[in-house]
Amino acid sequence: MWSFRKKADTETRGDGELFSPRCRVPASPRLLLLLLIAHCLLLTTACRRDMQDQPKAIAYRQSTFFKDGVAAHAPVEGTVPRGYLRADREFYFGKKSSYGNTGNSQPVMPLTGSSTSQAPSSGANLGPAAMYPDDVDTFPFPITKEALDRGQERYNIFCSVCHGATGYGDGMVARRGFSKPAPASYHQDRLRQAPVGHFFDVMTNGWGAMPAYASQIPVEDRWKIIAYIRALQLSQMPQGERQPMMTSK
Ligand code: HEC
Repeated sequence: MWSFRKKADTETRGDGELFSPRCRVPASPRLLLLLLIAHCLLLTTACRRDMQDQPKAIAYRQSTFFKDGVAAHAPVEGTVPRGYLRADREFYFGKKSSYGNTGNSQPVMPLTGSSTSQAPSSGANLGPAAMYPDDVDTFPFPITKEALDRGQERYNIFCSVCHGATGYGDGMVARRGFSKPAPASYHQDRLRQAPVGHFFDVMTNGWGAMPAYASQIPVEDRWKIIAYIRALQLSQMPQGERQPMMTSK
């Protein structure tokens, strides 16, 4: 017959009190106790909460927690945003600080409805400045040789697979079938003249069939990639047509 003392002797887990001879209980009450616990466990299953039903507040949804019944609340007055203030609109969004005051990163596309629709393939009669009126046309920080090198490295990692090493839109992914629509060539007039803020917008929010790269490429690297794209564009332009494209603040 199994007994607590025997167990305690052979037990090496050191559970102490639980298996000590002092808690010796006759067999039938023990059985009753077990049944009782099992019964209680059965009852508690009614209290379980599934993952899809989490006690969290969802923006704009009603809430019984707050007195005013609204789940979304403005931060308490005096709250200091740490790390996500993003007050520098030009740097973080590529948008002119003078244009609008919303601070959001929604693309302004006068020719088409949204960034998910087919992007305009030509500038029509509008100049690039009119097509992207909200986008900055200068880099938000000076472009050094190091910045350009970093941009080249990041470009080769993130963009060249589709846009090609020289930016003609003939990267390996495009050659293997991503061709409807094909990745844009940077050596077309519209993109040569497009403000740098437009490139920032494309990388940040995506453009037509192209996915957004905001989650993979930090803000500063995005600007450096654009500097490298400008260098690529310059490299493919006939000597006489070259204009100063590398302007920065
Ligand atoms: C998975 C393939 C792919 C990758 C990677 C990619 N692109 Fe694109 N890109 C596209 C495609 C496809 C288009 C054309 C989208 C359309 O017209 O619908 C495009 C278009 C563009 C345009 C032109 C937007 C316009 O005004 O017409 C720019 C600029 C651009 N990409 C920049 C970049 C940069 C910078 C990177 C690297 C961070 C990058 N792309 C990485 C596929 C890619």
